[in-house]
Amino acid sequence: MKIEIAKKAIGTAAVFVLPVFSDKQSSPAELKKILENRKKNGDFKAKSGETMLIVPDDEKLPEKILLIGFGDSKKIKPEKVRNLGAKMIKSVKHYEKGIVDLWLPAGLNMFGKELGEGMELANYNPAKYVTGKSKEKHAKAEIKTVNLRPEKIDKKKLMENVLKGVTLAEAVNYSRDLVNGPNNLINAETLSREAQKVAKECGAKLTVLNKKQLEKLGMGALVGVNLGSEREARLVVMEYKPSGISKKEKSVLLVGKGITFDSGGYNLKPTQAIVNMKEDMAGAAAVFGTFKLLKKMGVKKHVIGITPLTDNLIGSKAQKVNDIVTTFSGKTVEITNTDAEGRLVLADAIAYGIKHYNPGQIIDIATLTGACMVALGDRYAGLLGNNKKLIDELMKAGENTDELVWHLPIHRDYRKAMKGTITDLINSEGSGLAGASKGAAFIQEFVGKTPWAHLDIAGVAFVKHPKPYDHKDATGFGVRLLMEYLN
Ligand code: BES
Ligand code: MN
Ligand code: ZN
Repeated sequence: MKIEIAKKAIGTAAVFVLPVFSDKQSSPAELKKILENRKKNGDFKAKSGETMLIVPDDEKLPEKILLIGFGDSKKIKPEKVRNLGAKMIKSVKHYEKGIVDLWLPAGLNMFGKELGEGMELANYNPAKYVTGKSKEKHAKAEIKTVNLRPEKIDKKKLMENVLKGVTLAEAVNYSRDLVNGPNNLINAETLSREAQKVAKECGAKLTVLNKKQLEKLGMGALVGVNLGSEREARLVVMEYKPSGISKKEKSVLLVGKGITFDSGGYNLKPTQAIVNMKEDMAGAAAVFGTFKLLKKMGVKKHVIGITPLTDNLIGSKAQKVNDIVTTFSGKTVEITNTDAEGRLVLADAIAYGIKHYNPGQIIDIATLTGACMVALGDRYAGLLGNNKKLIDELMKAGENTDELVWHLPIHRDYRKAMKGTITDLINSEGSGLAGASKGAAFIQEFVGKTPWAHLDIAGVAFVKHPKPYDHKDATGFGVRLLMEYLN
């Protein structure tokens, strides 16, 4: 979506979008009358989210005017602007030719970033992997250009902020595309090729380890999960190190679960649970999306991104229940459930990251447990960890971005529950109690003393009931949250 600042108040686009506060009047002079009439008649009260389409029969005016209520100007909040920005785009998306004029009342001056985010997130085209008529229909509906028509404003600053929001949202949309992509197109092979593009874009150093190398390194957990798959596992490692970083400053390690299809393995998922398991690489997609932004957003931190990539399938070679694997860290694990595969691949990725980069912080992001989805639904990701400061900072970043997270506990008895009898650990203790916490408790065995946070995004990465700026299926959750934390 292109953003431009227009010189004149009224333009030639077929639709003119006019945000209206309930307590303050602001519009181009030409539209003042229309707006006053509507308010006087009581037809349009400018309640938050209220819309009205006006088709004035007047050559001097736009063909269509969309009024959109922003409610009380004193109650305006970032989240509301993001939602209403999205609503504006979704309302005009399907009947216009891709160009929109948008009036910006001075009351929105402070919210350029959220406006940009909301608009671009709403403008997402979900049909990237479709061919034929449906693809054309979706592509046609996209808004190509928004002409901003600000009332009174520091134009440069506003433009900067709107573009910042749009850029963030573009990376989220990229992440959504990866998650929505089916397994035959998005898998360890194609994703590691994708990583080349991402690394190039942000100037990161890229290492891709193949199956042979993983075996040689002793990544028994990742290799074990990969056994049932014809496609070989990969470990993608990206290192972003902008100039001017002092040697003493430790890196931030981001680890994203990249299970490109989770059948459950021999603990096979039933029909209702296996649908959409192409989404099980949403953590990796969030890391990719974040890396796309590091340079563009001028992040001044040393950031490492690691994504273990593999399917979790069945087959004569696949891992079986009670198999015993030795992880990269040296700890042994009895596979008590082949469907608890996410923690296994994360364990090896985290241990590798610690050994090679000795990071100051670790954040892993993973569609890890159905239990987290049951507990928190599709509006909060689970947040667990071993460090209060890191948790508080991520909570704050969640509030600022509306990618909400909720802190869940790890009791020391939950850590005990993950201990094995003949091995150091088991990957599932099978009680069905506190599943999200126990998943995290397993991962904690591999982080040592490093400050660490775990984001369980099983409920929020792929949704049936989207937020105003989201769409059904992939949300791209995590990109904006991690960027807010890093910046
Ligand atoms: N990928 C799933 C978790 C999941 C469930 C993600 C629903 C998105 C939506 C994960 O690998 C899994 O299967 N977890 C098991 C863990 C259990 C066997 C300990 C689960 O949640 O049932
Ligand atoms: Mn699973
Ligand atoms: Zn999984």
